[in-house]
Amino acid sequence: MALEFSERIRRIPSYPVASGYDLGTEMAMLASNESCFAPLPVVVEAATTVIAGANRYPDPGYSALRKALSDRYGIAKDRIALGNGSCDILLSAGEALLEPGAEVLYSWPAFSEYPHLAAASGARAVEVQLDAEERHDLDAMAAEITVATRLILICNPNNPTSTAVGLDAVGAFLERVPRHVCVVLDEAYCEFSLALGDPYTSVELLRSFPNLVLLRTFSKVYGLAALRVGYALCGSPEFPVAVNLVRQPFYLNAAAQAAAVEALGHQDEVERRVVSTVAARSALVEALDRLQVWVAASDANFVWVRLPADGPEEPEVVEGLRERGVLVRAGRSLGRDGALRVTVGTEAENEKFAAALGELLG
Ligand SMILES: Cc1ncc(COP(=O)(O)O)c(C=O)c1O
Repeated sequence: MALEFSERIRRIPSYPVASGYDLGTEMAMLASNESCFAPLPVVVEAATTVIAGANRYPDPGYSALRKALSDRYGIAKDRIALGNGSCDILLSAGEALLEPGAEVLYSWPAFSEYPHLAAASGARAVEVQLDAEERHDLDAMAAEITVATRLILICNPNNPTSTAVGLDAVGAFLERVPRHVCVVLDEAYCEFSLALGDPYTSVELLRSFPNLVLLRTFSKVYGLAALRVGYALCGSPEFPVAVNLVRQPFYLNAAAQAAAVEALGHQDEVERRVVSTVAARSALVEALDRLQVWVAASDANFVWVRLPADGPEEPEVVEGLRERGVLVRAGRSLGRDGALRVTVGTEAENEKFAAALGELLG
């Protein structure tokens, strides 16, 4: 007999996870916007050391990580939310804020997890198309705010299109949002953005907007994707309290907490990675320019490529790249046909990708 599930299970879309993790180390893994830099040995050591005490539950107050983030960003500890990846905080925000009759507003295409929030809660998803340059159209978003709007998501830089909107524009948008509406500025890739500048800059916005939440992660520039650590810097303590109510108490394991604290202490390494990634991104964009494909203006550790209309179709290109040892993400699975999302990898991986794409496009 088939199991009987809740109504919402039929609504929730499956997250488009990347395949290919079982294909071996020869593949260029350019499909998931991870870091090509492994964690520093001291970070690995910090994580492995605490495993010896794994008979105890992790610190439920997450005090060391909370303090490290509070010291770094000058934000009171009770205005910091932590999570098992920033996705955990995002999904908890949906659960805490949304319900039937409420609306969640975001641009599309954006992070694949956003549609989950409405589907899981029964709220209405209001999706606003990106502009012709694949950037957020904040005016168009502001025009969609209604009395039912509870949550607004701005992905900046935007996954999958890599574009960023300046913080002046974000500030002007926030002025137009009623103060009871929560705005999550999803900054998973902010460290890689030249347009946004120093990742401290958006933190300043929290002073003026108590309804703002800056969502960030250790999965990208810090290279800890497998350990799952995300955090949110919030304009008021209300948000952390609410997301903690809808989750299990031990959402962040001890090894992940220790690794994140250690990684945070090595900002010189973060800077080195950013400089290296931005240089590799420029080289990748130049290689794509030579192939005469359109590339969005990237402010992230990935690029967004529109395939030429008169060339092979997207599934053929994705498969052709895979056969040549390169995994990228098909635009179709991310909300846009005829495009590719390609993570900036090592120099060798980027060159392998550009050569393979050149072959396929003839
Ligand atoms: C825009 C954006 N937000 C959030 C996340 C979630 O990251 P994590 O749960 O690994 O912190 C991702 C992951 O790719 C992302 O692209």
